[in-house]
Amino acid sequence: MPRGQPPLRDVMQPFYITTPIYYVNDRPHIGTAYSTIAADVIARYQRLRGRPTRFVTGLDEHGLKLARAASDAGLEPQAFVDGMASAFVDAWKMLGCDYDDFIRTTEARHKDRARYLWKRIADRGDIYLGDYEDWYCVGCETFYTEKDLLEGKICPQHKKPVERIKESSYFFKLGAYGERLLAFYEANPKFVQPEGRYNEVKSFVREGLRDLSLSRTTFSWGVPVPDDPKHVMYVWFDALTNYLSALKGPAEPGEAPLFDQFWPPSGEVMHLVGKDILRFHAVYWPAFLLSAGLAPPTQVWAHGWLTVSGEKMSKSLRNVVAPEALVECFGADVLRYYLMRDVALGQDGDFSHASLFARYNGELGNGLGNLLQRIVSSIVKNNLGGRVPAVALATTPEDRELLDTAGRCARAAAGHMDAIAPQRALDSIWELVGAANLYVDRTKPWALVKSGDQARLEQVAYTVLECLRWLSVMIWPVMPQKAGELRAQLGLPPLVPAVGGDQWPALWGELPAGLETRPAETLFPRIDKDGEARILARLGVGAVEGTSTSTSTSTSTSTNTSTGAVPAVKETIQYDDFAKMDLRVGLVKTAERVPKSKKLLRLEIDLGESAPRQVLAGIGEHYTPEDMVGRRVVVVANLAPRTMMGLESHGMVLAANDGSGRLLLSAVAGEPPPGSTVA
Ligand code: MSP
Repeated sequence: MPRGQPPLRDVMQPFYITTPIYYVNDRPHIGTAYSTIAADVIARYQRLRGRPTRFVTGLDEHGLKLARAASDAGLEPQAFVDGMASAFVDAWKMLGCDYDDFIRTTEARHKDRARYLWKRIADRGDIYLGDYEDWYCVGCETFYTEKDLLEGKICPQHKKPVERIKESSYFFKLGAYGERLLAFYEANPKFVQPEGRYNEVKSFVREGLRDLSLSRTTFSWGVPVPDDPKHVMYVWFDALTNYLSALKGPAEPGEAPLFDQFWPPSGEVMHLVGKDILRFHAVYWPAFLLSAGLAPPTQVWAHGWLTVSGEKMSKSLRNVVAPEALVECFGADVLRYYLMRDVALGQDGDFSHASLFARYNGELGNGLGNLLQRIVSSIVKNNLGGRVPAVALATTPEDRELLDTAGRCARAAAGHMDAIAPQRALDSIWELVGAANLYVDRTKPWALVKSGDQARLEQVAYTVLECLRWLSVMIWPVMPQKAGELRAQLGLPPLVPAVGGDQWPALWGELPAGLETRPAETLFPRIDKDGEARILARLGVGAVEGTSTSTSTSTSTSTNTSTGAVPAVKETIQYDDFAKMDLRVGLVKTAERVPKSKKLLRLEIDLGESAPRQVLAGIGEHYTPEDMVGRRVVVVANLAPRTMMGLESHGMVLAANDGSGRLLLSAVAGEPPPGSTVA
């Protein structure tokens, strides 16, 4: 093990949290926003606890994928990446993500660092020159051997054909690092979270590691290899080094270098990554660092993937959810809350407008917003001169119960945040919201007004106001803007985290008596059915199942803007009629265009039978053959065969028509085995 790994999450130990650096060929979407928001929430929580914290995000700007995207756009790569970068800076700002540094791999400070790391590894004798001949997926910038590929030489991640490459390459002796990595894992049982993912990493390493191709010669968009500039560094070597580049130099003149403060053993480093890129972070990255004689990061936290109505988000499916429109309709904090509350970090989650509306109106509007309104805009304003009454001691069992609940929920929420479980932290925080609302229901302050029991009225009002103060602190990491608005209504200044000052609520009664409250707009104005329909129209989404009385043929949350009339529902059928239809999950094995037809694709679909079936689908204007291979579709399996363009079709693939003629394949959530029934 390299220099001793420090304990995880010691309050004063410097904390360095990173997001993956995003490929700049794409625009930010709800998936990449999820990573950045989660990192921001964790960083804000640590800052609130007074911990020296550094949060870094950035962009991955080199590699073949970027070079091709630039060439498709008719631009030089540097001009292309420069043009795209601001979309990320703007998106993270709009989403309230408060990072300390933004690193781009085309910056000189980064290229220097990548060369430095390369040289240290080369000096150790772990890099050698050879020839690489195998497969490569440009989509994930990953090398593959044939056994890793899906049938038809398809990338298992991207479901797109891979390319054969044969070229001179520098290699990293990864094969020699298996034992050292396993020993490191053994000594650091929390290195990868969640635990299940750690087991996958360990099994991968136990199966044996191949040396890793570390440079390319057939294109030049990358960091040139020291002393051999015909080669550019493999884009993942280049990209992973960003975590060191962003710690180059001191934060302020005269301070200790950032690396010395924030990298182990002094600091705790947490790389938050998506589950798809865990191997790079948990195997290759520590191996590079061990070779270079540097400590690996403290923890790699793998979050799950967000789907949209059960489908993977992709440009070709036109279901990419852009955060901008959602922020326009709901504000950044509501989106942040929704993403952190709806999806457990580490598990996959599904983005759904229905759930967003339900949480907005229920937990935010009726829960927190209502609590504030009932007390500040009503009781305190109308009966207590708009000022915080005298600090009250808990006298009744109801008071004591609420105080106990507040203490318990605050401790539990902190524990969950320390364990990187923001969803569970929000559960605890909302338990307190519920308890405080119940306290108002039980103590009936409006009845106290009527009966003239001023002392008890003040006591009740103070208790709720103090609860709201606690809540304004606890929601700050997730909803910094709303926390500020809530505090402003209570008459409190915004929270300003400071190193060494723990602001997490623990002491009851810190809300000063006499403070002038400032009732204002309700925090979360209710969205009724009409408002919901207006928002959906603005987002370009069909009506949401289960939340609206209108119907739509589209079940997808695509960015489609058609809100055209929906065809009338056909004549009612009996269940027996429906039951005659045999709907099955099919896995598309091969796909090609039918010659001379714009619309038809010829698919071979595995329905769990002895051989795949040939099915013709009229989706050729909406999906390419590459989009289809590896995809699960719903098939009418017992439809009588039909001949089209001289080919027989044995079944039908189901798709939604959004009213403008656009077809969207019906979604299959998860990965049910081919032939699974659908009903
Ligand atoms: N450039 C590499 C990372 C290099 S880090 C040294 C890369 N970039 S990426 O833009 O393709 O993906 C960045 C992150 O976004 C990954 O962690 C990925 O898991 C995450 N997401 C992309 N789409 C996502 C969802 N639909 N849902 C959740 N996260 C997703 O990989």
